[in-house]
Amino acid sequence: MTQDRQDRQSQDQRQSPGRSSRKRAEPRRIVVAVSAGIAAYKVPELVRELTRAGHAVRCVLTPRATHFVSPLVLETLTGHPASSSLFGTATPGSSDTTAAEIDHIALADWAELVIVAPATADLLARMTAGMADDLVTAVLLATRAPVLVAPAMNVNMWEHPATRANLETLRARGVRTVGPDAGELACGWEGQGRMSEPVAIAAAASLALGSDSLSGEVVLVTAGGTREPIDAVRSLTNRSSGRMGFAVAAEAARRGATVVLVAGATALPTPPGVRRVDVGSALEMRDAVLAELPDATLVVKAAAVADFRPANPQDRKIKKESLAEGGGIQLELVPNPDILAEVCRLTKEQGSHRVIVGFAAESHDVIESARRKIARKGCHLLVANDVSRSDAGFDVDTNAVHFVSPDGEVEDLPLLSKDEVAAHLLDRVAKIRDGLR
Ligand code: CTP
Repeated sequence: MTQDRQDRQSQDQRQSPGRSSRKRAEPRRIVVAVSAGIAAYKVPELVRELTRAGHAVRCVLTPRATHFVSPLVLETLTGHPASSSLFGTATPGSSDTTAAEIDHIALADWAELVIVAPATADLLARMTAGMADDLVTAVLLATRAPVLVAPAMNVNMWEHPATRANLETLRARGVRTVGPDAGELACGWEGQGRMSEPVAIAAAASLALGSDSLSGEVVLVTAGGTREPIDAVRSLTNRSSGRMGFAVAAEAARRGATVVLVAGATALPTPPGVRRVDVGSALEMRDAVLAELPDATLVVKAAAVADFRPANPQDRKIKKESLAEGGGIQLELVPNPDILAEVCRLTKEQGSHRVIVGFAAESHDVIESARRKIARKGCHLLVANDVSRSDAGFDVDTNAVHFVSPDGEVEDLPLLSKDEVAAHLLDRVAKIRDGLR
């Protein structure tokens, strides 16, 4: 049986019989190529992230990488040999060199994506030169699949003009990169050179793979802040840029979904393949969401909806001269409807299998507040972010979120780009969907 058929069969066996008439997405085939850096100790966690996302994984190592991570661990996690040799398998006692000799071509052809993690300065140099003197470089030279590298090295090696030039060449050839992060390095130096966290590499892998995992789904996304009118020219709004919701809409479209994006206040361009409905106030957003809801199979509510609106917005501009000399104005605010809670209630009443995701902007007690919020709203997943951080939440390109489930279980994600958070989120959504239908 081919590796491909084995993967599909084992995936089929994991489905509970009679539970779902929907065909699950095929596992994607990923080769993880490990080079000899201390960060190799994170590779088992990366393999677990990838298999948890439903991918089929094979590992290959450079001979020296076996000093940093045990092939046996990788074999156990993947259920397949983790070889480090072009000539003869790394399995002790094996003398079958013929099988191993064709392995690099078979693996290179099998892969839909090759991830190099960690990618040392030496390996990047050998990739750039097109060398094929060990199993890892041979697979990399022979594959036609996209390649994602996760560099990890000493900061001076990272900043060396040779490494810079190598990366430039590799990127020009279409090789993607994730990281490295900055921080304390194993060599004792501080700076850029730490391999990205496994969860970030897995999210970048999802982006690199693309997929049709959401084909047939109609995804309704809300994004941006609402604008609550005070008078003809003024409004109450918030700092939301809409980037997180736009990233979710873009990624859902890349995964083959029909996407409707209900957008509040934002300056962002519409992502390709997405139908956009612009709204201003929370009441307008509610109307637009309820109009689109009947067709929606997945809902992601990333919008920052104002909880209150001015009770008596004025049609005309409020003029200072209409106020008493030096006097202020009192704004009376009334509560806005909770759109997410309403969507959850309607979905439940309809007995629908629609998957609903909410976001939570919290400035303190992030997890506990999010747990209470998901119980109150009734959605399938809550993405909680700490908006008090300067590198996460409002108006930045990165986000550090926690996925909170209805049973209170929490998955913490490290600081990721909003595109990576979107990829990770939609992996989770697809799994929730598979569990419901
Ligand atoms: N939300 C909504 N309608 C509202 C308020 C919020 O649909 N009137 C949605 C948001 O789009 C988000 C989730 O509810 O998905 C949580 O929003 P958040 O502002 O964090 O929470 P609130 O419900 O407003 O509660 P609080 O302000 O007390 O934290």
